[in-house]
Amino acid sequence: MLKGLFAKKKENGLDKNKLNIKDLDPLNIPKHVAIIMDGNGRWAKQKGLPRIAGHREGMKTIREVARVANEVGIKILTLYAFSTENWKRPQDEVKFLMDLPQEFLRKELDELIEQNVQVKMMGFDQQLPEHTLNAVHEAVEKTKQNTGLILNFALNYGSRYEIIYAIRNIVDDVLAGNISKDEIDEKLMNQYLLTKSYPDPDLLIRTSGELRISNFLLWQIAYTELWYTDEFWPEFNKQSLLQAIYEYQQRSRRFGSL
Ligand code: FPP
Repeated sequence: MLKGLFAKKKENGLDKNKLNIKDLDPLNIPKHVAIIMDGNGRWAKQKGLPRIAGHREGMKTIREVARVANEVGIKILTLYAFSTENWKRPQDEVKFLMDLPQEFLRKELDELIEQNVQVKMMGFDQQLPEHTLNAVHEAVEKTKQNTGLILNFALNYGSRYEIIYAIRNIVDDVLAGNISKDEIDEKLMNQYLLTKSYPDPDLLIRTSGELRISNFLLWQIAYTELWYTDEFWPEFNKQSLLQAIYEYQQRSRRFGSL
């Protein structure tokens, strides 16, 4: 985008728009990066294309970002692919989005396996069409022995519902006598969330210039570093991810301490 050109900055002789992986501190790579992939529709509109063309282009961005994330040494990449609120979109668009995981995995699964990537899904199965779930489950199964990047798709995910779901399960376990009320603390809560196997995100990226969290990982981002870009998701690329990580590395994380 034009704004990006003017935002070009040099810091200590380093051009932030021309970063290489070797410009990053290998000892301070964010372990868990979460991304709100926004702006597919606006990208398409700007080009006079239907919204779904933006989603298809956004799928290509996922391929590149996963490859770079793996190369850089990020351990978990959580992508907000479909929220519990996205069902409110026109039926055609929802159908198209529900077909995308199948299309993406048909094209990319072999390469993801080759790159040692583990595909995971985080979300609520109910409502998701069978073909969408089957495609994702097959990818999860075929990549479960891999040890590289965890590519975690948030699909039919909503944070408020996730928290309610956790509370219901905790209450069930208290009533069943499996745990006592006094055992409920942050650590226990983490175990009842869909992210129970992962550390909290270190870095949350949102594209398209919107400054919102949109019901994504509300509990988990308590101390996450936030990074926003005006680029629409289909424009986001290797350089954008390197810049986000570079800027993350310039920050001092204090977790409430001094
Ligand atoms: C937000 O853009 C994007 C989404 C709701 C969908 C994101 C999905 C993908 C990038 C592809 C998913 C692919 C796989 C493999 C799961 P928007 O439509 O809200 O854009 P707008 O704000 O400009 O309208």
